[in-house]
Amino acid sequence: MQEKIDKVLSAFNGDRSELIPMLQAMQKELGYLSEEGMQAIAKHIGMAESQVYGVATFYAQFYFAPRGKHEIKVCSGTACHVKGGARILETLESQLKIKCGETTADRNFSLEKVACVGSCALAPVVMIDDNVHGRLESKKVKGVLDKYASEV
Ligand code: FES
Repeated sequence: MQEKIDKVLSAFNGDRSELIPMLQAMQKELGYLSEEGMQAIAKHIGMAESQVYGVATFYAQFYFAPRGKHEIKVCSGTACHVKGGARILETLESQLKIKCGETTADRNFSLEKVACVGSCALAPVVMIDDNVHGRLESKKVKGVLDKYASEV
């Protein structure tokens, strides 16, 4: 982990204006923002750890725990909501045995809600990694998850 952290820090000269790009680079390298990663950034730019953490928590793009191998994003836009998106989310939570915002114990899946993903004609929509699963029905959720779970 320290090697990865050092690699990220070496790309920045310690200017405070680089905080967001540093956080982004750290998350890309580590997969999430670990405590060690944020401490290292704070030291590198001479800011209090609490300030770095405060900035990071303001942005939804940052994660503070390891993410799953597959990212599931359930669209919560209007069209998807009207077409039963909330029911799909409940089904996913129940199948994966996690709540929205969490990652499964085997680190296979992370689950979250997102705003309109731009495929409203296919509502309700769930994105898994870069794939759009449109007109999804609760009864099809298990089959879709099984396909990803069996990927090596
Ligand atoms: S509202 Fe879901 S894709 Fe637009």
